[in-house]
Amino acid sequence: MTAIFDMSREAPRAAGLATAVEALRAGQLVGMPTETVYGLAANAADGAAVARIFAAKGRPRFNPLIVHVASLAAAETLIELGAAGQALARAFWPGPLTLVAPRRPGAPVADLATAGLPTLAVRVPAHPVARDLIAASGMALAAPSANRSGHVSPTLAYHVADDLGDAVAVILDAGAAPVGVESTVIGLAGPEPVLLRPGGIPRTDIEAVLGRALVNPAADAAVAGPGMLAQHYAPAVPLRLAATDVRSGESLLGFGPEFLPGSDMAKAIVNLSETGDLVEAAASLFTALRRLEAVGAPIAAMPIPDHGLGEAINDRLRRAAAKA
Ligand code: TXA
Ligand code: MG
Repeated sequence: MTAIFDMSREAPRAAGLATAVEALRAGQLVGMPTETVYGLAANAADGAAVARIFAAKGRPRFNPLIVHVASLAAAETLIELGAAGQALARAFWPGPLTLVAPRRPGAPVADLATAGLPTLAVRVPAHPVARDLIAASGMALAAPSANRSGHVSPTLAYHVADDLGDAVAVILDAGAAPVGVESTVIGLAGPEPVLLRPGGIPRTDIEAVLGRALVNPAADAAVAGPGMLAQHYAPAVPLRLAATDVRSGESLLGFGPEFLPGSDMAKAIVNLSETGDLVEAAASLFTALRRLEAVGAPIAAMPIPDHGLGEAINDRLRRAAAKA
């Protein structure tokens, strides 16, 4: 049985935190709300607990996890950030930015969390419940998105329960994750900063702090995370990109005020943002994909501009559309 706590009310919030800390100490898994998506958290220093994350998600072992900490100072005990990393951390932490940097010798993180790599991914989340859980547990928390590996990421507590069932001991329900797409992942271990995964902080905001363009990962990059596997974030129905019409039997994933030919015959319509607002679209993306998946019809997705959060949205839609 999974214990679920409503974190919007004072009494269950206190009980939820206490129960979650107890579960983490016992090596169990906690569904943790963050500003991006819900995470599946475990004590990063506990190898057996981290192994439970991989088992619960069905996640390949070569795929390293993000470790969540309270502050830049805490991050620097685990990784060597360098000048560029420190500048990014000061600009965007707490927030939806993950930095991948050389791991410090002796950093108390289970080798399984890093898939044995010499680098480690670290993030300081902004969500108050995530921050309270890190503080109350006194732990660094390893947490991937709390979905089955390859499925759509969770932006609501029930998505976590649906995907993972009893494998998660406690879920802290804080309502909808406000950003809606995962953190931007920046690689700092090489000669120049690399955009490993577009996410909640737009590329141009990061480039403005760095004073230079971000490099895209080489196609043959040694470390390909799940964010880099072709098929990922996928609903169980086919998805057609850049649709300019709705074909017979399709549902529509809309964006903006435009009316597509064939919409009147659509099996279902979900519009990511009627006004064409990319921030609103990111926040509703994964819930929309799960709703349309439940309808069961193939999805026609309207084109979405590639600037701002559009780069992360288009990245997720391309992977949702890729054939396994
Ligand atoms: O917003 C987020 O980042 C959410 C919340 C829960 O924090 N977490 C998340 O974790 O999206 P996950 O495991 O679904 O994605 C982590 C990404 C993967 O693409 C993984 O390959 C990459 O980070 N990653 C982790 N450690 C890495 C490393 N040492 N080198 C390169 N990539 C790494
Ligand atoms: Mg994920």
